[in-house]
Amino acid sequence: MDSFLIRGGNRLKGTIEISGSKNSALPILAACLMAEGKTTLKGVPRLSDIDSMSKLIGELGCHVYRHDPDEVDRSVDGPVLDGPLDITVTDESLCEARYDIVKTMRASICVLGPLLAKRGKAIVSIPGGCAIGDRPVDLHVRGLQKLGAQFRTENGNIVGEVRGRLKGCHMYLGGAQGPTVLGTINVMCAAALAEGETVLVGAACEPEVLDCAELLIKMGAKIKGHGTPEIRIEGVDKLTGCEHRIIPDRIECGTFMIAAAITNGELELRHCNLDHLIAVTDRLEEVGVHIERQNGTVFVSSSRRLTPVEMTTQPYPGFPTDLQAQLMALLCLADGISVVTERIFPDRFLHVGELNRMGGRVRKEGATAIVQGVKEMQGASVMASDLRASAGLVLAGLVAKGTTRIDRIYHIDRGYEKIEQKLSAVGAQIERVKEK
Ligand code: EPZ
Repeated sequence: MDSFLIRGGNRLKGTIEISGSKNSALPILAACLMAEGKTTLKGVPRLSDIDSMSKLIGELGCHVYRHDPDEVDRSVDGPVLDGPLDITVTDESLCEARYDIVKTMRASICVLGPLLAKRGKAIVSIPGGCAIGDRPVDLHVRGLQKLGAQFRTENGNIVGEVRGRLKGCHMYLGGAQGPTVLGTINVMCAAALAEGETVLVGAACEPEVLDCAELLIKMGAKIKGHGTPEIRIEGVDKLTGCEHRIIPDRIECGTFMIAAAITNGELELRHCNLDHLIAVTDRLEEVGVHIERQNGTVFVSSSRRLTPVEMTTQPYPGFPTDLQAQLMALLCLADGISVVTERIFPDRFLHVGELNRMGGRVRKEGATAIVQGVKEMQGASVMASDLRASAGLVLAGLVAKGTTRIDRIYHIDRGYEKIEQKLSAVGAQIERVKEK
């Protein structure tokens, strides 16, 4: 397993190109299972999770082809790092998502709705718990049941079947922790091919839901209200392949905004949508970070006198749970006590112990962390536990005195495209150490 060695203390200065959104691309790849003909996706980042999803839909009968980067149309605004992906369904008889893939990536559950709607059958291994909590899929199953799918569990798999065609209905999709992002997408995808109208009340409003709805509409789906808690879907008989560009990754963008802030640096972040980061901008400005936007570019700078804040993670448009660990790393250096509360995944605090090993003073009380600011962080050997926790440790390493070694960085490779290259290009001393 590879590690990162980071020598802290450099101010970051320069330009970073933000990649396409991982969390948008993953369910969109699954939605391609429903289309007839070729779909071309632009801006799909090169990440291990994308490789896993490509493999999964490949096993489900899709031909997936990645063009070379130099074939990208450079006249359009957007990341030019990656070639487009072409996806064409060539075999509709396959319906099983194996445990081997599902266990590495929970987003595999996104094939459930598309398979049931298009092929009438789905066998998907039940995703287990993960480092950020239990993460049940009951809301996905309940929503699809309301559309008429029947489920049973068999040898660790969810087995779903549809007699005839799914039927649209009026349903509430929220859960105890609020709306579900991938659950909304799963049910929305299935409803796009159901008979009649479906109304999803309590739907997630995240930009990734909106992006998937836009893709489905290009494929011929009739969807209204996406981006609001009530989505209306009029089922159609078929969906046809289309061309689509994935939205910028708001979590990668937020992570680099915090990288500028924590290193007292100055970064120009290209190809972002700051509208997707309104709560993050609000909190960072409160901390004392300077943020300016010009169309799709954001300029972030900080004089590193950081004011402590209170922050609670919430469904969109609230502060995203996927940036909680990174903000906490920044607040470790604020001038006083900050309070961070996690409302989406109450156990998502594995980074606390590691930040403390680096000199942070963070105390956990239930789903809240009390962060007492310190004057400096120190380099240490730490362990990446999940994707965003690891990003928090990279940020802390960039400012820590001495060298930080982060082990198990395969977690970071799941969601940050070429992170060490992007950070090195703006002045960070970060090096990947390959496992011998
Ligand atoms: C998506 O996961 C993201 N993953 C997560 O990002 C992100 O943290 C999360 O949304 C919240 O924003 C992808 O897009 C691939 P949820 P998802 O269903 O959709 C509970 C990252 O680091 N719930 O919106 O699986 C759940 O336990 C990842 O990139 C149920 O109770 O999250 C949580 O408390 C990590 N039953 C809440 O809902 C269900 O059936 C919201 O989770 C489903 C969810």
